[in-house]
Amino acid sequence: MHRTGQPLLTHRIAYGGDYNPEQWSPDIWREDIELMTHAGVNLVTLGVFSWACLEPRPGEYDFAWLDEVMNLLHAAGICVDLATPTASPPPWMGRLHPDTLARNADGTTMHWGSRNHFSPASQTYRDHSERIVTRLVERYAGHPAVVMWHVGNEYGQMCYSDESAERFRAWLVKRYGTLEAINEAWGTAFWSQRYSTIDEIIPPRTAPYLINPGLNLDFRRYSSDLMLECFLEQRDIIRQADPQAVVTTNFMGFFAPVNYQHWAPHLDVIADDIYPDPSDPDSWHTTAMTHTLMRSLARGKPWMIMEQAITAVNWRAHNVPKPLHQTRRETLSAIARGARGVCFFQWRASTAGSERFHSAMVPHQGPTSATHQAIRALGSELDTLSTVLENAAPLATPQRVALVFDWESWWATQEPALPTNRLDARDILADWHTALLRLGVTSDIVAPTDPLGEYAAVVVPNLYQASPQALANLRDCVERSDHLVPLIVGPFTAVADHHGHIHRGGFPVPLADLTGTHGNDWVPLEAGVNIDMAGAQYAVADFAEHITVTSDLTTTIAHFTDDAPHDLAGHPAITHNAGTNTWYCAARLSPDALTHLLRAALPSSTRLPAEPPHGVDVVSAPTHLAVINHTNEHQRIALADITTDQQNLFCAMTGAPVEDSLTLPPYDATILVAAPAVSETKELNA
Ligand code: GAL
Repeated sequence: MHRTGQPLLTHRIAYGGDYNPEQWSPDIWREDIELMTHAGVNLVTLGVFSWACLEPRPGEYDFAWLDEVMNLLHAAGICVDLATPTASPPPWMGRLHPDTLARNADGTTMHWGSRNHFSPASQTYRDHSERIVTRLVERYAGHPAVVMWHVGNEYGQMCYSDESAERFRAWLVKRYGTLEAINEAWGTAFWSQRYSTIDEIIPPRTAPYLINPGLNLDFRRYSSDLMLECFLEQRDIIRQADPQAVVTTNFMGFFAPVNYQHWAPHLDVIADDIYPDPSDPDSWHTTAMTHTLMRSLARGKPWMIMEQAITAVNWRAHNVPKPLHQTRRETLSAIARGARGVCFFQWRASTAGSERFHSAMVPHQGPTSATHQAIRALGSELDTLSTVLENAAPLATPQRVALVFDWESWWATQEPALPTNRLDARDILADWHTALLRLGVTSDIVAPTDPLGEYAAVVVPNLYQASPQALANLRDCVERSDHLVPLIVGPFTAVADHHGHIHRGGFPVPLADLTGTHGNDWVPLEAGVNIDMAGAQYAVADFAEHITVTSDLTTTIAHFTDDAPHDLAGHPAITHNAGTNTWYCAARLSPDALTHLLRAALPSSTRLPAEPPHGVDVVSAPTHLAVINHTNEHQRIALADITTDQQNLFCAMTGAPVEDSLTLPPYDATILVAAPAVSETKELNA
């Protein structure tokens, strides 16, 4: 995807940010472009919120300003990620067509005066979107500056209106075929909820007490699909005009309302917006996990950071600025995990509007500010990295581990009225991912129905609700593998089927023959319960299960200590079935305990020669080895501890050779690459 120079994202790291020229006068545009050139910016996202400028009155268009900006950018060699402006319809749309406005669960209308007030179920909104996108595409498809299209912005709207109710019913009929099947799936024999005609079905609007979990789950599925329909309508308009067009939209990490596992195959580039909380000293764990998710969703397609903040955001209650070294570490963590684009929100800080206190690449204080200087330094560093990564020789890397995560099951763990509300699947995933990070193990976050054959171990932190296909896939990786790939299963897994109906019997019912255990009770806990694993004690977090061993091949790896309440004392907390190599964890455990467990359960082929020091992130990839120091201390790392491939390594940023060891100052990071063999170097230079 390039119109100028080397292709961005595949061969060059894209660098830039959201650019909102409609907030500025033409003389500032010129200054902006000059500053962008100095900062190494090669990509800007343009027009995300420009609908009211492009179509000031219904059917009356003004593209002149955008023409000028596009041409100026192109002349400077800066590529454009052109947005369809449909995330924020102009005020005239809401006034003339109130049916375009979303309604929340209690019927409140979402009005204009902010953004994202549209209903994805509104046909009128979708017709107007189609018109503006068609105009935009007619004008700019094939424009030499455009390398990518950015549909809407951060999809996430759910709508409970009557029009949405109608679409929901049509979606249900398509999914289930008959009303009988819907009644069955939702278990409506309960509380007199049985529907006698399809028209009685409404979205899960505000109700006196707990709402049917099947209704909630299907409304989430439908809402995600509805937004996807909106995305696809616009993508297809773009594709019709330019079949080669690269089309994306921006994800938001683990953003529950949109099932990114369903969406990802429809995007050409996976793009993510990420805003870690600078007051959380461990935010690098979730940042790394989110980058891992994006790389995994991309499945070989390019992925990039579409938005991050250079320092502070403005939308938390108390906006501690993010240190510039943290932004650099987060950026390099993304690059280490395969990102090939790093952009910011936004280029120039707004002086008016709700985001006037949000940081930007050019802050109010101007280009001499430390912030802007850091942007220049990062731009130059990424430019160097681009070239070096492109030419690096391959490195030997450990085998990857699959971390199984299912979006729908995540929704199901967010339902009220479970044994506890402390079993959110994303939070449990984070504990396990942190344990893997501590071990320096590289993982992919995959859906339970994704192919698992290439992995050296399969870890299922939580899969509360498992479809027959998911179960078959998990069983397959145990039953088919000739070398017994370990299957490591966390608590509260395979409790329910894909409708959310609970399996009867000793849990995890559909996997109990693999684990060789029988689950008797779920036991939500207060603090103070411990397990003993090989003489080491670990606290249980919030939740335990009372289980017994049923197979001769299953041994107890850890047990609840003698003072544990609820008849847990002495009962197994972690088991291992040597016949199937299946591990089962009957408690929610901290990353400390999980690290201990994974040390025992993971094959050595997945591991670095030694575990990285605490607070140091080591990412091993075929083209590079990244070492990121998240601590405030110097860290000395012996190369022999992080790679088996120590020949010809050098620092990608400075070009300095690295032999034996490296020392990283506090909060510093480096990316190591291997120099190609001499003959190849000659060829490259030729
Ligand atoms: C994102 C959004 C941007 C901007 C940014 C501020 O959610 O896409 O437009 O609002 O947040 O952090």
